[in-house]
Amino acid sequence: MQRFEKPKRRSRREVGGRKRRSMEATTKDEEKVEFDASEIEYVSYSGEHHLPLIMNLVDQELSEPYSIFTYRYFVYLWPQLSFLAFHKGKCVGTVVCKMGEHRNTFRGYIAMLVVINSYRGKGIATELVTRSIKVMMESGCEEVTLEAEVTNKGALALYSRLGFIRAKRLFHYYLNGVDAFRLKLLFPHPELHPSQ
Ligand SMILES: CC(C)(COP(=O)(O)OP(=O)(O)OC[C@H]1O[C@@H](n2cnc3c(N)ncnc32)[C@H](O)[C@@H]1OP(=O)(O)O)[C@@H](O)C(=O)NCCC(=O)NCCS
Repeated sequence: MQRFEKPKRRSRREVGGRKRRSMEATTKDEEKVEFDASEIEYVSYSGEHHLPLIMNLVDQELSEPYSIFTYRYFVYLWPQLSFLAFHKGKCVGTVVCKMGEHRNTFRGYIAMLVVINSYRGKGIATELVTRSIKVMMESGCEEVTLEAEVTNKGALALYSRLGFIRAKRLFHYYLNGVDAFRLKLLFPHPELHPSQ
């Protein structure tokens, strides 16, 4: 999850307020939905009509508050890296990413990943992230990074399963005071390992 870029300061209390609303929203959605993996449709970001769907999900489930400019920055510049998951017309998950030059490395960055509570544990996040990573790889990225709260066991397990390693611990990284791990996935260099 990307750190909030701080254009307008929010008090801890406001942030706590958002978290409480988030938990209420989660409780409402708590009941697991029975579905077959083949019923989930994955689509790449394809226009402004997808923006409120992404914003709703992220706003409900992530602790960091983002402005609409942050969302637009990602989806306007790298629409091919953002994906949404739908079940029977309802948006149930999303991933938002970017890529670019960083200290002589062309790298991908996963900014936001959310699956609604009642649809978790069925591989939707894995499929969303894998799709973004595939596009990053095909676009020439050498690595992918992201930050996750050190307390976020689900996300840490998911990314570790995908091969991400913990590269750094960032103290008080988030507005809520929680530390982050910077996670990194390195792509193999075929020229160094021709057999891979
Ligand atoms: C993290 C999150 C995106 C996972 O979504 P999901 O669709 O349930 O993930 P998947 O079903 O693809 O899980 C894949 C693997 O991740 C791990 N995992 C996911 N959620 C987990 C949890 N709560 N506890 C432990 N492991 C978990 C497991 O290894 C799982 O594999 P398994 O089912 O074979 O054991 C979802 O819980 C979420 O939206 N959380 C709130 C937002 C968030 O924290 N986003 C990440 C910010 S960095």
